[in-house]
Amino acid sequence: MSMKILLKGAVICLYALSFVGCETDVKSKESEKQQVKEQSKQIEKAICVLHPTEGNETNGVILFTKTQEGVLVNVNISGLTPGKHGFHIHEFGDCSAKDGTSAGGHFNPDGHQHGSPHGHERHAGDMGNVVANQDGIAQSEYLDKHIKLNGSHSIIGYSVIVHKNEDDLSTQPTGNAGPRIACGVIGIAK
Ligand code: CU
Ligand code: ZN
Repeated sequence: MSMKILLKGAVICLYALSFVGCETDVKSKESEKQQVKEQSKQIEKAICVLHPTEGNETNGVILFTKTQEGVLVNVNISGLTPGKHGFHIHEFGDCSAKDGTSAGGHFNPDGHQHGSPHGHERHAGDMGNVVANQDGIAQSEYLDKHIKLNGSHSIIGYSVIVHKNEDDLSTQPTGNAGPRIACGVIGIAK
């Protein structure tokens, strides 16, 4: 074999290698881009529009906003009887049943006991009670340290249920809050 052919072969090899190098470079840049994309996809806000179940008149909007300390839950509900009403995230985003039972039980990804929103042991969905004034309106805001808008415990796609009665924060597994008077699915908001 002549020197020329050997040299040519070496040049071709180097050329090919540089291509392979280039390709892995492009790939790592793409995965970097993907990571940035996924970070920017973090959900910051969620919304739930509540509609009355059959025979009821309760409407509302619940806003969930991610903060450094937890999720800020902003409540605006009307058409309630004055006083306390159980208020939970339920395990299915399904409000199709006339009585709201299609939403299933309380959202409970960790297999905990039912409890108070500020207690040690609670379902992730246990938001306690909303309190309606004499006009049947409940407006409040509280910081929830258990619910999440991102990751495996995200509340997106589940539902919010408002109950006819007060959640006693102890009876298992429902808080004995009675019938479901409003239901809404939690979605991603702008
Ligand atoms: Cu409930
Ligand atoms: Zn519960």
